[in-house]
Amino acid sequence: MTDRHDYHVDGTPPETPANDTAAGPWSTTTVVGTRQPRVDAYERLSGAAIYPHDVSLPGMLHGAILRCPHAHARVLSIDTTEAERMPGVRAIITGKSPGTDIPWYENGGAFSGKLFDEICRHEGDEVAVVAAETPHQAVDATRAIKVRYEELPFVIDHTAALESGAPAIHEGGNVVGEPRVRARGDIAAGFAEADVIVERTYRTECQIHATMEPHGSVARWDGNRLTVWDSTQGVFSVQANLARVLAMPLSNVRVIGHYMGGGFGSKLETGKYTVYAAILARMTARPVKLFLPREDCMTSTGNRPANTMTVKIGARSDGSLTAIEYRSLGSCGAYADGAGTGALPTYLYQVANVHVVDTTVYTNAGKARAMRAPGVPQAAWALEQAMDELAAELEMDPLELRLKNIPTTLQVEHNPPFTSPELRACLETGSEAFGWTESFAREPGDGHLKRGVGLAAGMWFYAGGPPSTVVVKLFADGSANVNMGASDIGCGTKTWAAMIVAEELGVPLDRITVEHADTATTQYATPSGGSKTVPSDSPAVLAAARSVKLQLLSFAADQLEVPVDDLSYVDFEIGSRSDSSKRIPVPKIERLGRRGVVLGTGYRDPNPEDTVTFPFCAQFCEVEVNTRTGELRILRFLGAHDSGRVLNRLTFDNQVFGGMAMGIGLGVTEERVLDRQTGKMVNANFHDYKIPTMLDVSASHDCLPIDHPDNAFNSTGAKGLGEPATIPTAAAVGNAVARALGVRITDAPLTPRRILEAISASSSRDNARGSRDAAASRKSDLRSAEADFDVRRESRGEEAPGGVPSRRPSRKEA
Ligand code: MOS
Repeated sequence: MTDRHDYHVDGTPPETPANDTAAGPWSTTTVVGTRQPRVDAYERLSGAAIYPHDVSLPGMLHGAILRCPHAHARVLSIDTTEAERMPGVRAIITGKSPGTDIPWYENGGAFSGKLFDEICRHEGDEVAVVAAETPHQAVDATRAIKVRYEELPFVIDHTAALESGAPAIHEGGNVVGEPRVRARGDIAAGFAEADVIVERTYRTECQIHATMEPHGSVARWDGNRLTVWDSTQGVFSVQANLARVLAMPLSNVRVIGHYMGGGFGSKLETGKYTVYAAILARMTARPVKLFLPREDCMTSTGNRPANTMTVKIGARSDGSLTAIEYRSLGSCGAYADGAGTGALPTYLYQVANVHVVDTTVYTNAGKARAMRAPGVPQAAWALEQAMDELAAELEMDPLELRLKNIPTTLQVEHNPPFTSPELRACLETGSEAFGWTESFAREPGDGHLKRGVGLAAGMWFYAGGPPSTVVVKLFADGSANVNMGASDIGCGTKTWAAMIVAEELGVPLDRITVEHADTATTQYATPSGGSKTVPSDSPAVLAAARSVKLQLLSFAADQLEVPVDDLSYVDFEIGSRSDSSKRIPVPKIERLGRRGVVLGTGYRDPNPEDTVTFPFCAQFCEVEVNTRTGELRILRFLGAHDSGRVLNRLTFDNQVFGGMAMGIGLGVTEERVLDRQTGKMVNANFHDYKIPTMLDVSASHDCLPIDHPDNAFNSTGAKGLGEPATIPTAAAVGNAVARALGVRITDAPLTPRRILEAISASSSRDNARGSRDAAASRKSDLRSAEADFDVRRESRGEEAPGGVPSRRPSRKEA
């Protein structure tokens, strides 16, 4: 459904070998579904875990990248003479160096850039790279490189990029490919059938991935073999890209990514920095470490593009939708990618007539990359607020409007059914747990603090599947090892893998270790992204454990002298059903002891045909808006999520809370700010770029899993969660704010300034009717604003429910 190319290693149709025996589904579970702390929690919290950023090798050099300071410029000349004489400098590469003429930024089989390009198309494009004895010497040397640029006219706004006469960023104009159209039915007939039509344009701002660990790699050569430690979401994908650009056999490229500090999609693509490190390490015969400073991560490692989205929805008076027309414009930045948002309006609701157009343009800004449900939170911001506006026109509860239009199939040609169509369950169970009906009936309040509730729904368009291979080893003492290639990008991958082995074989969790994310020593897996790691890899883990179990059963049958079908495997013991005296604990199986280890291999079986599997969700929130200061406090949030079977309830909750936090960022606090005069990013740091903190998220938040195993989809019955968790969040906040204020704010983020402007625009409309009271009311507003300020100061140290200090005044205004 999604056309992201980076969820698999390359574009070929995925295939995996067949399992000998079918595994699952479980009827009951004792480990799976419980709350388990991460198997690597101690390492992560104590600092013992070695992230790529921590890797330090004997004799290692440090790299630093010289980047273009202009939004758009041609490199006329680069003089490295002085830099080469700087202390500690061992090598410098530019686009003129041997082996650097490499096409880069692949999209749909074509490349829109090069490893070094003589045209720099955004602030941060790479010009030269230095390797030196220390990080500071490397940075100093980049400053000594003399570059002559010819500055070119630039465009940073996606609407302006479409205008005639806009600076061309690539040959052939600023539109990337053809606009993508999704359509069904007859849109004009659909609107003709409608009793009510709502049309509105919404905007979201550009959001940065803001990973805690910066992007970077360490590269080391042993003869003609390359080893790379990379902060990546997919070691096999980095291996494939390095082998391609360096013209090496896959077997000579080893990529290791044991820990990584956040990716959210920005570490799906192979970084130029990885190739630079490899080239410099080969030139110097020394290991090279190249990690980006925070500013470079902000300008040059991806973003969720800003979007402008126009939604037109028609419905009959009973609330049934008749037509959705949707146009979305976004920018992929300087190099080709998709900035589309059109999937959600096409498929979230049952509606016969749809016309959706996505246009992506180039701008002179950092390239977009997949970011946590690429396109979908933006679409939800538009669609789900338009649905609330439609509900208001229809005088319907927004919940009822959504329940009236629930799809159970994917509305494409053959109308394939969803294997687990749980949108209704998310809305019904979630609204009940939240107390939606009572909360929605409440008035916003008479004072200056207005409260309101909002909800939004969502679905995610990727389900996972083959290929995945996993090996489980059971050692003679009954301890076990899981060997899988998937990266654990912070989503608890290692932990649920161990839990599945514990469930299937009865091995205690603390006697299971996990080998993962190393192309030399672990099994093949696709990158961890698209919310597909659980549904792609968990069935392979189960199949591998099941293979071990079947071997143990046959060993025990010989030893106990009973037929295999008479045996049952309960906890960590195998026994005869017909003769209870014949039983044996697994570690006492003689042939296990003689072999030393029993090895089981499991594969990901293909997905069923003619059906579609998606995760669904609905989120509900309550906000309080201070109409004098424009401050927005999020009081509570509830996420009702259908992701099939819950593997680890603790991790499930945390995914949902993390997704909400990121969605609050999109809706309330985050915004990449590019300077109109220079095209440069002015908030490329964690002080001025506002990711939500503990004080910005809601003090009270709940996760409500629907937890219906989708056994038709795969053997563990689990679907994805990481991306759905962030899809409806911003829209739910938008709807709650509109309910609290009685005014709809169409542009995210909902900063105090936007909120005050919206209030003032609406009250100046009201005041046109009776301006006599205005002066008096302003005076009293001022008095109570002062009082309000005092109250806030007094209560600064006070604790809100949940032990979280009350929200600090936002500093977010430029
Ligand atoms: Mo995600 S955007 O697939 O890491």
